[in-house]
Amino acid sequence: MQPSLSNPLRIGLRQERVISPQSLIIFGASGDLTHRKLIPALFELFLQRRLPSEFAIIGCARRPWTDDVFKEKMKSKLSDKISDNPKEWEIFSNYLFYEPVDLQERKQVKKLASRLSLIDKKQATHGNKTFYLSVSPNYYASGCKALKEAGLIDDPKKSRIVIEKPFGRDYSSARKLNKIVQSCADESQIFRIDHYLGKETVQNILVLRFANTIFEPIWNRNYISNIQITSSETVGVEDRAGYYESSGALRDMLQNHLTQMLAVTAMEPPGKFDPEAIRNEKAKVLQAAKLADEINPWQCCVRGQYGKGGDITSPLNGYRDENGVNPNSTTETYIAAKVFIDNWRWQGVPFYLRTGKRLPKRLGEIVLTFKDVPVHLFESTIINPAPNQLILRIQPNEGATFKFEVKSPGSGMRSRPVQMDFSYDESFGEPSDEGYVRLLADSMLGDPTLFTRNDEVEAAWKLYTPLIELMENTPWKLPTYKYESGTWGPPEADQLLSRDNIFWRRP
Ligand code: BG6
Repeated sequence: MQPSLSNPLRIGLRQERVISPQSLIIFGASGDLTHRKLIPALFELFLQRRLPSEFAIIGCARRPWTDDVFKEKMKSKLSDKISDNPKEWEIFSNYLFYEPVDLQERKQVKKLASRLSLIDKKQATHGNKTFYLSVSPNYYASGCKALKEAGLIDDPKKSRIVIEKPFGRDYSSARKLNKIVQSCADESQIFRIDHYLGKETVQNILVLRFANTIFEPIWNRNYISNIQITSSETVGVEDRAGYYESSGALRDMLQNHLTQMLAVTAMEPPGKFDPEAIRNEKAKVLQAAKLADEINPWQCCVRGQYGKGGDITSPLNGYRDENGVNPNSTTETYIAAKVFIDNWRWQGVPFYLRTGKRLPKRLGEIVLTFKDVPVHLFESTIINPAPNQLILRIQPNEGATFKFEVKSPGSGMRSRPVQMDFSYDESFGEPSDEGYVRLLADSMLGDPTLFTRNDEVEAAWKLYTPLIELMENTPWKLPTYKYESGTWGPPEADQLLSRDNIFWRRP
């Protein structure tokens, strides 16, 4: 692809890689993700002067909107951001186009192909296209086939497909989907997106581990006693019951976002900073991961579902009372699992993963707890041992904290835990970009480093296969326990750890 540097707004361009002229075609343009994440991320890239002037965003969905209606819809949803940058929005909106398309209808996809040629000429995008499938996962396979049939993804150098999660519903459907998608396009054209990999602090794990000498020597079973990975949300299912009822926390968060965080935390150092070298290591560690008890998988997993909560002034619905949810639903809104990694580095170190909706805080963190000292010399550490901990804060207040013991001031020899903090905001003075900003830019740049490869996705599904089989065949063995909205999940999840004499960190 030929880069363009002719955008007059490029004055003050950051030291970033340059996105080539191209069209970004978003299927599912009338959906939630488009106005909540994609258009704001693209506008942010525009404000950062990172979009080429030869560019077009073509929204596609079944609704019979026109270009102007699409522009208006997007504008109304983005009013806060636009009010600070009204002139920039006017320029940005020149990039926006809309074409009504049903991906299942050949004729309509053909018509889209003709419209794309016209827009390509008008915007001088050199025939380069990135297709973003933000549609229901049921349409990923047929969507790719339709694009292939219309000849829109024939040139691997000029076309790419970005596919949202969840990629498949289990191991066998993910394999099947991979086969279909790979029969339509080359793996180098396929960008499976997991927006957690776009988060600054998830990428920072790589830098922390591999750009410092002090962490890597202790990043293993000799020094680390356990690792906890948490992603908690305060919101409930909101208006997504249609999708969530058949997804649940395992498919919505655990198999992808949490497992990707696990992969980045546990992978071996790659030989070089190269997309395939990194993805090889991630795939390898995921292939070595297994549930802590594969014979009796219910012993290493707890599912929960939020019940009512809040107070008289702001009561909160239980999951079963939410709009569109089956009143007898057993879908889990919380899941915790214990995983081991069968390799030299991690043998015997438990990884505890948990995620849930309607928990007390919105939070993402990875907590590495180090082993206890071999001999307790000081009384305070005998009574109340506080092991060293490294806490990587994914969100909010992105950064890291290291907890260690120091001597309490005074005449005795008592120790006390203190912490050293690093905060992105304080150190760099600017908030990090949303994950979608980074990932949209990378997909348009053709950089696959932060996208999940076919073997990674399959390994992540394989890991949870025993749980999925239980949920489908003998659900009574893995019941969904109730938890009150606004609490840290069902008490059974605490027992998952307390059996090992470990406790969830209460952030
Ligand atoms: C999405 C899930 O992938 O991630 C949502 O489908 C969830 O259910 C969201 O709310 C959480 O993302 P973040 O970035 O807010 O932690």
